[in-house]
Amino acid sequence: MNFKINIEPEGNTVEAVPGDTLKSVLESGGYYFPQNCGGKGKCGFCRVNYIEDAPKASTLEVKLFGESSDYRLACMHKVESDCTIYVPPLYEAMISGKTIAGFKVSGGRSGFGIACDLGTTTVALYLVNLGSGEIAGQYVFLNPQLSYGADVMTRLNLAKAEDKRKELTNAIYLGLTEGIKKLLNSGEVSPDQIVKLLIVGNTAMTHLFLGFGGEGLERAPFRSPFERRGCIPFNPEKIGLTWEVGCEILPILFSFIGGDTIASIIASDLDTKPGLRLMIDFGTNGEIVLSKQGTIWGCSAAAGPAFEGVGMYSGMPAVKGAVEAFTDEGEPKIIGGGKEPRGICGSGYISGIAYLLKNREITPAGLLKRDKNKKREWIPLLTGDNPPRITQDDIRKFQLAKGAISAGIEILCGEADVEYAHLDEIVITGSFGNRIDISAAVETGLIPRINPDKITFIDNAAGRGAALCLSDDHHRKRALKLRQKMNFINLGEHKLFQEVFVDKMKFPTKY
Ligand code: FES
Repeated sequence: MNFKINIEPEGNTVEAVPGDTLKSVLESGGYYFPQNCGGKGKCGFCRVNYIEDAPKASTLEVKLFGESSDYRLACMHKVESDCTIYVPPLYEAMISGKTIAGFKVSGGRSGFGIACDLGTTTVALYLVNLGSGEIAGQYVFLNPQLSYGADVMTRLNLAKAEDKRKELTNAIYLGLTEGIKKLLNSGEVSPDQIVKLLIVGNTAMTHLFLGFGGEGLERAPFRSPFERRGCIPFNPEKIGLTWEVGCEILPILFSFIGGDTIASIIASDLDTKPGLRLMIDFGTNGEIVLSKQGTIWGCSAAAGPAFEGVGMYSGMPAVKGAVEAFTDEGEPKIIGGGKEPRGICGSGYISGIAYLLKNREITPAGLLKRDKNKKREWIPLLTGDNPPRITQDDIRKFQLAKGAISAGIEILCGEADVEYAHLDEIVITGSFGNRIDISAAVETGLIPRINPDKITFIDNAAGRGAALCLSDDHHRKRALKLRQKMNFINLGEHKLFQEVFVDKMKFPTKY
């Protein structure tokens, strides 16, 4: 007899065969556990909360969550009865709710198109009315490949084994097939109205989507076999659409600069506007692009998913219930209001860490100050029963991410001989949207100290660029011309990278 697992707060139910681990059952129901240790009970990231009748806690669970907590590690417990659990918000498969407010593409064609931003952590689908130019619907979900590893290197390593590579590719095909169904429902459009689909992704996501692994990317000269190509055609039947749908992928520009960066450049007009402009995409793969009077420099920095709240102790996407910032007094600002935060999103971590730096709770090296001679593992920024918290491990992950991004900025500006003070604009894209607190980002050393009026936000830039290229050949041609304009800097091979990275991991010493 199978058991039923009720999942709160959505009220979903998944069935389990007796003896299955809770983690594997939840994953089969679309709940993912990013950055996990592979079910060895070591990382703590597969925690779930039993609403009633929690199984006996292990020594590790007591250490992690406390004696009276009902949190348990899903990988360590077999399902042996019906149960009701609460899955923390980070792991919810669907995180819809993003909008591209007021954004339109050129219309005048018939039918609908789908623009897809295939991210390492999230996949965003936009339904484009090719007649009116309006965005008719959208659906955002966690990339199902997250259960194989949070970063691209882990997934590419796994993909060395043929069976795992196939699993990774199938996971994204299945995710997209389901995602497209939900997208069409949201826009009340039938599949036969779809005439075009355009996918943009970073190099690794593009490789895995096409059934490849890290071919060409693992050793010098680090060239993807998909570089120097036009758009890459793809069989739409693999993701549940009919063969008549014109389906293609924006090309890879240089080894680690993929179609998502091309799309972001198009959306922010970095290739057409004059002056000195810097674009920073705070994704799992942080792309940095600098334009100087029509010439473009670009690099990719392996930031990891910390800015998206993934892998952080209380991390969650920037949706209702997340702490998006802290006031000067340390009060949380919660998305959607309310007094009970569910977790902390990327902008909340930047703001919280800036607050802790200002109050000298963190040293410039990134260590939490000792408490009465005792080493501290986490800081009680919020109150309540098991409240969201910022841990020493979170701070270290944040430092690694900000070190990679700010080292990339410094090296790119050095290569183009540009001083921060002379920049005309910094364009910020990525999952923060316009939530990021600029002064907190400057205080943590994440972005250069420039006049805040020069900073512009473009949320979902890769999705916007994909929609533009999908709807208008003029933008598609702009995208294909970028290769001639760009100088690619491979940070991993740059002689200064290691030194600058280590330096940039430290926090500014102003306090
Ligand atoms: S997956 Fe790491 S503790 Fe469960």
